[in-house]
Amino acid sequence: MPRPPSRDIPVVRGDRLSVTVDGFGDGPDGIARIGDYIVFVPGVLPGERAYVEITSAARKYGRASLLEIEQPAADRVEPRCAHFLTCGGCHRQHQAYAAQLRSKQARLQRTVSFALGDGAPDVAPTVAAASPYGERHKVAAQLLQAPNGRLTAALHRARSPELVAIHECPASDALAWDLVERTVELLNRLPHGAWDPWFAPKALLRSVLVRTTTDGYAHLVLVAIEPRIPGLEDLLDELRAAGASSVSVNHNDGDPARLLGPHTELLDGRPFVFEHLAGCTYRIAPTTFFQTSPRMAEQLIEHVVEWLAPTPADDVGDLYCGGGLLTLPLARRARSAFGIERNGFAIDDARASASESRIQNATFRAGDSLGWLRACGRELPKPHLVAMDPPRTGLEAGIVQELQRLRPARLAYVSCEPQSLQRDLRDLQAAGFRCAAVVPFDMFPQTCHVESVAMLEPAR
Ligand SMILES: C[S@@+](CC[C@H](N)C(=O)[O-])C[C@H]1O[C@@H](n2cnc3c(N)ncnc32)[C@H](O)[C@@H]1O
Repeated sequence: MPRPPSRDIPVVRGDRLSVTVDGFGDGPDGIARIGDYIVFVPGVLPGERAYVEITSAARKYGRASLLEIEQPAADRVEPRCAHFLTCGGCHRQHQAYAAQLRSKQARLQRTVSFALGDGAPDVAPTVAAASPYGERHKVAAQLLQAPNGRLTAALHRARSPELVAIHECPASDALAWDLVERTVELLNRLPHGAWDPWFAPKALLRSVLVRTTTDGYAHLVLVAIEPRIPGLEDLLDELRAAGASSVSVNHNDGDPARLLGPHTELLDGRPFVFEHLAGCTYRIAPTTFFQTSPRMAEQLIEHVVEWLAPTPADDVGDLYCGGGLLTLPLARRARSAFGIERNGFAIDDARASASESRIQNATFRAGDSLGWLRACGRELPKPHLVAMDPPRTGLEAGIVQELQRLRPARLAYVSCEPQSLQRDLRDLQAAGFRCAAVVPFDMFPQTCHVESVAMLEPAR
């Protein structure tokens, strides 16, 4: 029996009603209000009138599914992908691309204004992707096994660990997605099942990962719970014909939430891909973080280099440097650049990339960003300029304090998560830095994800 609405919660699960969409929340969904009560609805756009069904009604907010758009927004468009809203990989295919860009700018303006109050700059227009589709050069599909034993490529349902079989992915680079599909088809010739932590913990095959470059090189990595996949050698010719330039097996018998284990064995081709951006050559191992859209990464580099504007008198620090994406182009202009990164494989790539790019004044160390900053101005020299590109969680406690002590002349903060950026900008302002500009980048078209660069300098 559904319970009746309480005084504070005006709806119950199963209610059907018409709502007006106020705007987007911080995540993928639209927000509608019933009095003061907030309901999140996927697949709607700001200003639309929608007929929805309440799927949950908790004390703080509710959720609803969309039944019908009664009054569409002017910027509503037809989604390109048959799996849109079933698969959790995209959230905005129903919105015209120009409107997606404007809504990311508005989202970031809210973040920055909330963090900095009167000190907030106007957020710049979002830098558009080269193309609104086909820009994801890293694709990781799980494997799903039908009751008849057949394997299909799968991605996660929105907000769920459940997998959905996927037959197309226009958001991905076409070479990457076609190779995933063809690989799964070929894997059906082998007698191996799809791993599932609960129902098939002994089955061999976990995921198919493809990283492609802008010049059409494709590294195919098959993730399995054993170091070898018996019979895979027999498929190599056909995998090559399907577009795989390299084929590797990654051994991951651990955490279900982690895509890759630490050991990758090459079966065919080169163990790395090489991407050419901003005049540098980057070597990328499967385990190294590298931006999903290389063309947008190049835009990011240009903005960071332009703001920091290193001269041959400057030493630059790059915190959370990954494979040296920012460190190398900064080193080109600076006296020296130092990159610090926790992942030792990424540091190996960064050093190899420096050598490939003939850059001799970049130094890299595997370690912790905070530990390195603490040593600067003591046993190590002070950096004049600092770039930092932390994970979604933002800067760890202590970083802002060290930056306050070191007072670099300019800071470039690359963020992939507005919520942590909000906290960190507030702390940086309190530590005496002024935010001069914020630029959003559409690293993930068709999603609600907002990448940005905040440009800071010491307040006068
Ligand atoms: C968003 S990625 C950025 C990498 C690089 N700047 C780029 O754009 O390709 C964040 C990186 O920070 C690294 N990382 C996370 N916590 C760290 C820490 N405390 N110290 C150093 N690196 C860390 C991760 O391994 C990851 O490579």
